[in-house]
Amino acid sequence: MRFNSKLPDVGTTIFTVMSRRAMDEGALNIGQGFPDYPVDPRLAACLVEVVGEGRNQYAPMEGVMELREQISAKLQTSYGRRFDPHTEITVTCGGTEALYDAIQAVVGPGDEAIIFDPAYDAYEPAVRLAGGRCIRIALAPPAFRFDWDEVRGRLTDRTRLIIINSPQNPTCTVADGDDLNALAAVIRDRPITVLADEVYEHVLYDGRRHASVLAHPELRECSFAVFSFGKTLHATGWRVGYCVAPPEMTRELRKVHQFNTFSIVSPLQYAIARYLTAHSEAWTGLSAFFQAKRDLLAGLLRGSGFEPIPAAGTYFQLVDYSALGSEPDTDFADRLIREAKIATIPLSPFYAAPPAMTLLRLCIAKRDATLEAAAERLRAFAASRTG
Ligand SMILES: Cc1ncc(COP(=O)(O)O)c(C=O)c1O
Repeated sequence: MRFNSKLPDVGTTIFTVMSRRAMDEGALNIGQGFPDYPVDPRLAACLVEVVGEGRNQYAPMEGVMELREQISAKLQTSYGRRFDPHTEITVTCGGTEALYDAIQAVVGPGDEAIIFDPAYDAYEPAVRLAGGRCIRIALAPPAFRFDWDEVRGRLTDRTRLIIINSPQNPTCTVADGDDLNALAAVIRDRPITVLADEVYEHVLYDGRRHASVLAHPELRECSFAVFSFGKTLHATGWRVGYCVAPPEMTRELRKVHQFNTFSIVSPLQYAIARYLTAHSEAWTGLSAFFQAKRDLLAGLLRGSGFEPIPAAGTYFQLVDYSALGSEPDTDFADRLIREAKIATIPLSPFYAAPPAMTLLRLCIAKRDATLEAAAERLRAFAASRTG
């Protein structure tokens, strides 16, 4: 039988590719974004407790109410508004499922979704599976700023969705209040929904505050906002995230969610709810925690040939290797795995049409010792190239 692929050009994600290559080559992996340190032992203890108490059957489709209440309280603290756990909050399988469900709920055959390159790689396949197509607007390095006039110029009668990601992976930039105002003006009086990927909401540096669509009076009425406990609790493998949207939009999202994953692992939800009830401050120190790691790595690399680009948020750090070579970033990343035994993530796979660029993404959600070892390998490699 000939099987016709619906996504013939989609391969394995660059994260998986580089992590596999890291394993094969015995390389230190500071490419893929996952912590190499344990979760808070009090969170782990909550999980053991709830499993022992028998919280092991299907969770409600929308999410365990105790968890949705904790999420509502957390949103109130962060964004100054109460979101109804019954009608506006849905627990999903990581941020990834929330993104997928929201896209399926909005995009239909022939519709267009605007995304910004370098774009997180989960967006486009979901748009295409819904029968739509992505209009990809490239952000130019090294500042990666939005050009809202260009966005306005790319709108058509078929535009149904604009996906923004702030803090942005992989650029480590953040949208500010002016960006959100400009976005609101662009979509005003048009049938366009916003999908705001805010999984790094708590990781902004140097005193910046996250500009969430949920704190924007106009945007919160027409946005799906996506969050991830994987990022907030250093537990990417738990795959627990959530989506916040007005009731009418939440109803549509849940229609997709209930036939996609139906409901999310019960004990994980009860454990997170219990943990947040006892430690509502758990996420408040994240910016300081990651800023110290950013500064450690950037300080170790500065002057080495891997020049750190100032990072405003996310748990990544971009470095520019132009002092060491001009080969394409995918080739350079491959050379680093083979010769320096270190895995990074090149930026060009996140673009439809990559600009000339010599940037690699490093993950700083690692133990200090890992960051130090990574910097040592990068410095040694750089010295061998220049020396
Ligand atoms: C920008 C962005 N969005 C969404 C996700 C997915 O989040 P989750 O791991 O909770 O599915 C990630 C994970 O790396 C991400 O970087």
